[in-house]
Amino acid sequence: MNLPLALAFFFSQDILPASAQLHWLAQQAGLVYFGAATDTPFQREREPWSAERHSRYKKIIRNPNEFGQTKPTNGQKWLFTEPYLRIFNFTETDIVTDEVARKEGKLLRCHALVWHNQLAPWVEGKEWTKEELAEAIERYHGVFIDGIGMQGHFVAENHPSAEELKETMRGYIKLVDEVAITELDVRIKLPIDEQKLQWQKEAYQKVVEACVKVRKCIGITLWDIYDPFSWVPHYFPGDREPLLWF
Ligand SMILES: *[C@@H]1O[C@H](CO)[C@@H](O)[C@H](O)[C@H]1NC(C)=O
Repeated sequence: MNLPLALAFFFSQDILPASAQLHWLAQQAGLVYFGAATDTPFQREREPWSAERHSRYKKIIRNPNEFGQTKPTNGQKWLFTEPYLRIFNFTETDIVTDEVARKEGKLLRCHALVWHNQLAPWVEGKEWTKEELAEAIERYHGVFIDGIGMQGHFVAENHPSAEELKETMRGYIKLVDEVAITELDVRIKLPIDEQKLQWQKEAYQKVVEACVKVRKCIGITLWDIYDPFSWVPHYFPGDREPLLWF
């Protein structure tokens, strides 16, 4: 697929680079980064391991011109980081932090601390009384929010326009200093055809357009780059091919 190049072209109409170089181009366009999430080996594989494909994957995800930022897709979620109350385990996230972010000099964004899914088992398994819940929430009062991340798990056939995205970003910027697109993928409902692939391409381009045009949008993170590592078919069985590379 030449979607990465289609995005590259969007950033810069005059220089058409040999490889997509999305991070490099994003910085030229005024963003802080263009990034891609990845996960720890064996947490991410959803198809049989292939040495050839994995080495290709590794080369792309580590390329500093392609991606200047990363984050673990799963390893920083609560079920991994605090599997038991007050017992922490950062093994999963450390692999991405050390091996991909630190070694390759990429920025690291941390994952949302709480998400409605993949909560720590001790949170999900407990019957919370109103008082206990209120107390837990109270403890986090006063945390300063200075940025908002927009996930961006879109559907090719029904994606937002650049105008809608810009309007949403501008709404947030009235309240915070920065916004970012933090989990971009664009899934396609089976069967896949040329028209849907075209809509997918437009969806990716519109997100890039909105972020480039909104001054305080600092960057875009793809939710991984290789379809067999995507979460999509597991949550949306009729949907496929949300990602950009091979
Ligand atoms: C911490 O997490 C790693 C990776 O998921 C796991 O292999 C290890 O057993 C965990 N350590 C503890 C003490 O639970």
